[in-house]
Amino acid sequence: MIISIVNEKGGSGKSTLAINLATEFKRINKDIILIDADPQRSIEHFLNFRDEKLELPFNSLSKLGETLAKEVKNLQEKYEIVIIDTGGRDSKEMRQALIISSIVIIPIVPSALDISVFEKMINIIEEAKIINESLIPLIVISRASPNPFLNKKISQLKEYLVKKNLKDFILSQNIIFEREAFRNTIFNGKGITEIDGDNKAKKDFLNFFEELNILLDNDLEQN
Ligand SMILES: Nc1ncnc2c1ncn2[C@@H]1O[C@H](COP(=O)(O)OP(=O)(O)OP(=O)(O)O)[C@@H](O)[C@H]1O
Ligand SMILES: [Mg+2]
Repeated sequence: MIISIVNEKGGSGKSTLAINLATEFKRINKDIILIDADPQRSIEHFLNFRDEKLELPFNSLSKLGETLAKEVKNLQEKYEIVIIDTGGRDSKEMRQALIISSIVIIPIVPSALDISVFEKMINIIEEAKIINESLIPLIVISRASPNPFLNKKISQLKEYLVKKNLKDFILSQNIIFEREAFRNTIFNGKGITEIDGDNKAKKDFLNFFEELNILLDNDLEQN
């Protein structure tokens, strides 16, 4: 199962989500590898933040260039789940990831500027679906302000998505809010589910994780 995380708008929370997903899949004993397909090498930087005494939270590899699709397909024989984190721009890595994935997660920030460039992202995914017909695009609202006075932005984004009448796209029922804990854990080289106790960020993430797993199970049943 290949899951890619894309949005050519920078800073929408792709790498943070990729790291947290990979950490949690590994924690529940899935055979998982995280592919860093971004020349900025965010995953490598994240791992360098991690305490040397701790075990690695997941396996990872950096893969760039024309051969990404071919190499990832080979890895699929060794790993149950392959997650591809792509960079914040249109790239051959992003396009290739879309062609070989079962699910593409698109985190989008509820802001006017992010919404205005989302149109192109939708077109790219629709184009990929001509070749990769069974691709499931899963949009998740990301880095949304938890301030109730600002939740108009969330409803505006939802309205925009409804108006687009996107066929075959799924809008996640869960929202990943902007929470300090997401930033702090990354800075300590940890996934959000590696921290103890109750935490709003952890809850947001785990709700999304559960929703994703239901989608994965359904997809496996159908194929
Ligand atoms: N839910 C969140 N709450 C708070 N901060 C977040 C959240 N998600 C991401 N961030 C922070 O926002 C910044 C951008 O996040 P991240 O690097 O994950 O985005 P990205 O989409 O991978 O960016 P790029 O397009 O450059 O690859 C980082 O500083 C990260 O710590
Ligand atoms: Mg990134």
